[in-house]
Amino acid sequence: MKNTLLLAGLLASTLLLGSCGSKEEEAQATAPTLYDRLGKTEGIAKIVDGLIANVGAETATANSVMLRSHKPMLDAVNGVNGQAPTDPTRLQRLRNNFIDQLGEAAGGPLTYKGKSMLVAHTGMNVTALEFSVWHKQLEASLASNGVTESDKAAVYAIVDKMQGDVVGH
Ligand code: HEM
Repeated sequence: MKNTLLLAGLLASTLLLGSCGSKEEEAQATAPTLYDRLGKTEGIAKIVDGLIANVGAETATANSVMLRSHKPMLDAVNGVNGQAPTDPTRLQRLRNNFIDQLGEAAGGPLTYKGKSMLVAHTGMNVTALEFSVWHKQLEASLASNGVTESDKAAVYAIVDKMQGDVVGH
C-alpha cells in the first residue's frame, strides 16, 4: 500500500513537472521577440526613417555635429552646385541595410547584407560626441514611435555593442 502510494506520488509529480516544462517551452516558442514588439519590418522601417529624418534635420542646423561625417553621402545624393547626384540611391541603401541589421539583431527573419560596422565607418573618424548625438536622434525616433522603455533599452544594447567599431576609425 505504502509502495503504491509512493509510486502514485512519483507518477503525479513526473506528470506535473512534464506538463510544466512543455508549457514553458510553448510560451517561449510563441513569446513575441523584440522584432515583433517593434512592429516587425514595418515598425522597424518607421524607426529607421525617423532616425534618418532626425539626422537629416540635425545636419541642417547651424552648428551641426553630424554634417561633417554625413556630407559625402549627402553630396552624392543631392548633387553639389546644381550638378546631378553622383549616387542618388546611397541613402536608400543605408536605410535598407540598417532596417535589415536592426531586424536581424532583434530576432527577426531579416538578414543584414551590408558592410561590417568597422568597414562602413572606417575613414569617417566618428567621434564620441558624434556618436552620442546620433544616439539622441535614435532615442527621439524610438520615443516618437511609441517604443516602450524596456524595448528602447534592448535597442540601445544592440547599437551600443557596435560603438567600438563605429567610433575612432
Ligand atoms: C551603432 C551605431 C551605428 C550603426 C548601427 C550604424 C549603421 C550603419 C549602417 C548599417 C550603414 C550602412 C553600411 C553599408 O552600406 O553596408 C552605415 C553607414 C553610415 N554611417 Fe552608420 N551607424 C552607426 C553610427 C553612426 C554614426 C555615429 C555616424 C556619424 C555620426 C554614422 C554615419 C554613417 C554614414 C555617413 C554612413 C554612410 C556611408 C556611405 O554611404 O558612404 N553612423 N551605418
